[in-house]
Amino acid sequence: MDTYEAIKGRRSIRRFQAKEIDRELLERLLDAIRWSPSWANTQCWEVVVVRDPSLKEALRQTLPGTNPANKAMVEAPLVFVLCARLKEAGYYKGQVTTKFGDWFMYDIGIATQSLCLMAHALGLGSVIVGLFDHNRAKEILNVPEGVELVSMIPIGYPAHEATPPKRRDVGEFVHWDRY
Ligand SMILES: Cc1cc2nc3c(=O)[nH]c(=O)nc-3n(C[C@H](O)[C@H](O)[C@H](O)COP(=O)(O)O)c2cc1C
Repeated sequence: MDTYEAIKGRRSIRRFQAKEIDRELLERLLDAIRWSPSWANTQCWEVVVVRDPSLKEALRQTLPGTNPANKAMVEAPLVFVLCARLKEAGYYKGQVTTKFGDWFMYDIGIATQSLCLMAHALGLGSVIVGLFDHNRAKEILNVPEGVELVSMIPIGYPAHEATPPKRRDVGEFVHWDRY
């Protein structure tokens, strides 16, 4: 699969088959996170791979009922929970270096895209889950002080095809020379 095909063909998948993911594929997914770029190579990510059905159910309960990813949280054989060590990305000697402060959301976002593209290239589906009670999820997984739980990404074999939601045309967002 070429890069364009991977980027364009990846879809959010919210229903999964009851089929486990082999260890070898799981390692490929983790390696995709590992090779992501990050601020000064700080690699602030910490990843909890949730396999236990009772933990998946507890995490699902942190989502509002209206979140379309509810079923994905319990159907997927694996839920990758992406966490970030704070005060590393965007920092130099303990001080912020830009007006944006901590860049952890940026670096976790890149790692997330690596993970989702890798999943797609391996024939797996994924959905990024960002709308949930982060503090409750943190407690459930014992995430320590100084680390934030950012997103949860259920991954498994897709149980459906997804039609691509519309995108803005390039001409609507590109600015030439000046904004
Ligand atoms: C930061 C972020 C948070 C998201 N949170 C959720 C979520 O809580 N629930 C959900 O069903 N989808 C969530 N999504 C998936 C988006 O809805 C989806 O990427 C978007 O509609 C485009 O569809 P596509 O991924 O199939 O291209 C999230 C995506 C991103 C990037």
